[in-house]
Amino acid sequence: MTTITRDLSSLPKRDVYRILSSLVIPRPIAWITTVDGDGRVNLAPFSSFMGIFGPPMLAVTLGRRKDGSLKDTHRNLQERGEAVVHIADLPLLEALHASAADVGPEVSEVERLGLAMEPSLRVAPPRLRDAPVALECRLNHELELGPGSTLVLLDVLVSHATERIWSAEEDSADASLWRPVSRLASVVGPNYGALGQTFHLGVSELP
Ligand SMILES: Cc1cc2nc3c(=O)[nH]c(=O)nc-3n(C[C@H](O)[C@H](O)[C@H](O)COP(=O)(O)O)c2cc1C
Repeated sequence: MTTITRDLSSLPKRDVYRILSSLVIPRPIAWITTVDGDGRVNLAPFSSFMGIFGPPMLAVTLGRRKDGSLKDTHRNLQERGEAVVHIADLPLLEALHASAADVGPEVSEVERLGLAMEPSLRVAPPRLRDAPVALECRLNHELELGPGSTLVLLDVLVSHATERIWSAEEDSADASLWRPVSRLASVVGPNYGALGQTFHLGVSELP
């Protein structure tokens, strides 16, 4: 069996990104609302994203715009320290993708895409009414990882899930009831997926 091997330390940044983002799949997508100083709502997707469940935190890596400036999400987080992280399902995929367009801070992606919002409970950014999952978050920590890459750690204060994905019996969401979307490679082949085949192999140890 032939293996394709790359020493990432000797490759240009663009190549490293292309290769790694095609190998680490599927990635959950944090679809994030923040607000700016004027209360304008910003929305953008980020797939360099993971959940940290104890303590209840999320980690997201924010790059920079081509001109080196901060993305709106990043600037709003620095200024206001709050965000709502949504998990989208298949019906919202096109809106999620469209919300990544590089538009100026004066444009609210939520308004441009005609997405309905609901007020949040504990943070200023509103949540998207039709997203099956919304997590109200507060900025805990920012860590510069290198030029143009910042890891943000968010404390999760409140979770919302739409009733149709919820198991009242287990008091948690049931993955068989919805199809969360994920990011695949950015360059070659399909670039999004949705949860497909699922399994139940017995209860794993709980923390
Ligand atoms: C599915 C998807 C995942 C993305 N993941 C990231 C990411 O992890 N980090 C990042 O900096 N940009 C990511 N982007 C690009 C941002 O969404 C894009 O730069 C956006 O314009 C940022 O918006 P903002 O300036 O309103 O914050 C992703 C785009 C898409 C479509």
